[in-house]
Amino acid sequence: MAIISASILAADLAHLKDEVERVKDHIDEIHLDVMDGHFVPNLTFGYPMIEGLRKFTNMPIDAHLMVTNPDFHIKLFIEKGATRVTIHQETCYHLHRSVEFIKSLGAEAFVAINPATPLSTLEEILPYVDGILIMTVNPGFSGQKFIPSMWRKIKKLSEIRKDNDYKLKIAVDGGVGNENALELVKSGVDILVMGYGVFRNPNLPELRKLLSKNE
Ligand code: DX5
Ligand code: ZN
Repeated sequence: MAIISASILAADLAHLKDEVERVKDHIDEIHLDVMDGHFVPNLTFGYPMIEGLRKFTNMPIDAHLMVTNPDFHIKLFIEKGATRVTIHQETCYHLHRSVEFIKSLGAEAFVAINPATPLSTLEEILPYVDGILIMTVNPGFSGQKFIPSMWRKIKKLSEIRKDNDYKLKIAVDGGVGNENALELVKSGVDILVMGYGVFRNPNLPELRKLLSKNE
């Protein structure tokens, strides 16, 4: 069964604990969008948010670092309770070093790529990662539309994984909802990151039922 990762960027942050409580039976993990106002045109949360979340949930937490210097922050995010760290290919001079560093600290290491970054830029890192996060919107905001040309990228990565027998997971982030979730999973996606699709979805209970059609 695919994993549903809830991006709290789309939650009502004045009531974060209640929001997580409200959706907890429909999700598997929490996705934390860390933005620096430099790599992406928005500012969000730092590691104190993980400390806050850890006061009321044991769910896995993915720290999606949309920052220009991810290496500065990796250790602290893991110490505070992140179980996965996702870094962007576009922000790392020494991607292999950063991936190995995350793994050495006991967290899962994922690499994200923006919509305009070709899959070929990941060729050398694929054997080392726990997963790849394909951005299906330009990073920065929740509630954007899925970019249709990302279907091809997802399917291509799924083929590469199969051809090389890589164990990596495929995650997608942005514009995912009940209308495309099942098709994404059928295309090889293991983790659906969803902001609006979780916190602003009146048909959230339908999501698991939809995904179970792939079993
Ligand atoms: C975008 C973030 C996403 C975003 C997803 O930069 O990385 O995680 O919150 O939101 P939705 O699912 O609403 O597109
Ligand atoms: Zn994200």
